[in-house]
Amino acid sequence: MAANPSEKKETQFYYPSEAFVQNAAISGMNAYHALCRAAAEDYEGFWAELAQENVLWHKPFTRVLNETNPPFYKWFEDGELNVSWNCLDKNLVNGNAEKDAIIFEADDGTVTKVTYRELHRRVCKLANGLKSLGVRKGDRVVIYMAMSIEAVVAMQACARIGAIHSVVFGGFSAPSLGERIENAGAVAVITADMQIRGGRRLPLKAIVDDALAMSESHTVKNVIVYQRTDEEIPFDKGRDHWMHELMQSQSEICQPEWVNAEHPLFILYTSGSTGNPKGAQHSSGGYLLWAIMTMRWTFDIKPTDIFWCTADIGWITGHTYNAYGPLAVGATIVLFEGVPTYPHAGRFWEMIEKHKVSIFYTAPTAVRSLIKASSENRQFAPEQYDLSSLRLLGSVGEPINPEAWLWFYKHIGKERCPIVDTFWQTETGGHVIAPMPGATPQVPGSCTLPLPGLSVSVVDETGQELPWGQGGILVINRPWPSMIRTVWGNDERYKTHYWPEELGGKLYQAGDGAIRDPETGYFTITGRIDDVLNVSGHALGTMEVESVLAAHPMVAEAAVVGKPDDLTGESICAFVILKDELPQGDQAKSIASDLRKWVSKEISPIARPKEIRFGENLPKTRSGKIMRRLLRVIARGEEITQDISTLENPAILDQLRNSL
Ligand code: WTA
Repeated sequence: MAANPSEKKETQFYYPSEAFVQNAAISGMNAYHALCRAAAEDYEGFWAELAQENVLWHKPFTRVLNETNPPFYKWFEDGELNVSWNCLDKNLVNGNAEKDAIIFEADDGTVTKVTYRELHRRVCKLANGLKSLGVRKGDRVVIYMAMSIEAVVAMQACARIGAIHSVVFGGFSAPSLGERIENAGAVAVITADMQIRGGRRLPLKAIVDDALAMSESHTVKNVIVYQRTDEEIPFDKGRDHWMHELMQSQSEICQPEWVNAEHPLFILYTSGSTGNPKGAQHSSGGYLLWAIMTMRWTFDIKPTDIFWCTADIGWITGHTYNAYGPLAVGATIVLFEGVPTYPHAGRFWEMIEKHKVSIFYTAPTAVRSLIKASSENRQFAPEQYDLSSLRLLGSVGEPINPEAWLWFYKHIGKERCPIVDTFWQTETGGHVIAPMPGATPQVPGSCTLPLPGLSVSVVDETGQELPWGQGGILVINRPWPSMIRTVWGNDERYKTHYWPEELGGKLYQAGDGAIRDPETGYFTITGRIDDVLNVSGHALGTMEVESVLAAHPMVAEAAVVGKPDDLTGESICAFVILKDELPQGDQAKSIASDLRKWVSKEISPIARPKEIRFGENLPKTRSGKIMRRLLRVIARGEEITQDISTLENPAILDQLRNSL
């Protein structure tokens, strides 16, 4: 699919240091291969052992995998547990009670810490508060909050009583929130009066009010409001409750509700970059198991680590690697309310120094924007800060282009810290393809190899496995514990979307294209399948072209979309952000011409963008994903009629539209 006509260059590997390997949970490739072999030889036995050793069960399971009704697989189905009990109570008896669970840094720099004991106390109080309002096991609770200790408390409190939470990212508009509340049939909403980002106060509760006013089914009976500011907000006395008032008189003890391993822990609507939102439903047992295993395997988590995942709790990364995984292994996490560029572009580096962060997990988009910021203003460059506490870096959410990888490696990790480029999705619950940092040699731009237990292949349109070196569709061959269970309320959509008939109905289709290196078998994600371009009969992954553009010394970031073309079928339109100022007139023309030559040279003349537009930024969702569908519309010169409520920076659309 994603043919790369350029000559194959010698693969350059980046190895973890001897010291890292020695202290790692999984040391060396032999250990990795041994785990893969164990899974291949006895798949159920492999998972059963991990689940027995790493998860606390109230009632042990006797059945591992139930495959009788594909693709509705069940894991550990007769086991009983509680996820909050695994994350909190366990840490009260193993010496972690006085350890910091969360270090919270507010937008204005104020730091608040809570120990495991205190977190447990708050979760129990809120859980009892929810029960006092009549919220019961199986009820849905929508959480519409910004990054805060209270947001984690809210998620954990739901888990404690067996209520199914659905966190909606605090940047969604009232109609989007309302749609999710309706779809989930929520009985309660937990929100905050306001959120504070980049020095600005933005409403949350008012948006909940609007969303509920639009509701037709009126399922929501209670709204619980965390008071973040002193702002006056409208309050409906019959429906709304301040969180602190609700918790005040509640007991500090709340017996966890024992749930079946298959009981839904949460629903998370997948980001609306394509189509209507789908509520990905996750389980309790299998999901928790993989959150724990990936903390150990991908992040090599140690009791002394300070773990900072910058993802918002509104996204899957914030669920698995803020709210659940790290707590279930007794780690200390940093939670950040603000944005990377406020009050200055050195904020991330300053926070790493201040909190002595040892594992830093972020998105390529953030890395690229900070590359640009630090080249513009050396004062906020990473070199100005002490980053010596770091030992491991991670990347998530989109392919990281080799240029950004190398910058991250050199300037942040000081060539000392391995980088785990983690490929996964909302639907997979946790990492799928990622290096094990003490084992897997890394290659910039490749997420390397599947984690043990995950059987991943690249297939053609009929589901036939393709040889290494040939691009195709990424699939997962066998059910795995942390997989999506269904699309909430829509089994049919789950079945047809993720288990397509064309591929035989037994392969989970991730929705991404991938290619394996012909020699190493390493995976490179070539972008969403719908992002593949066809120019003169040649298929090109948008990522390939973007990556090459981004490797040009003048370029900070680039996005590429296809545009119908009479001659070539599709032509390439590139949106380019330079490290320097926005170029004008002849200067823009000359840079565009240089960039075309560059792409021609690096990939092939076929990949040369027909059109290049310069802007100061790209349209992105609030989770940092480039909204290619909007770029496609701009490239075609059409009117934007789509929903842009998830767009972080709407003003950029006009600039790009007028950039020709
Ligand atoms: C993309 C985020 C390349 C991919 C965890 C996937 C990646 C989608 C990577 C899921 C990566 C995520 N390399 N692409 N390391 N990580 N993706 O559901 O296209 O928000 O299908 O989950 O992001 O996005 P989602």
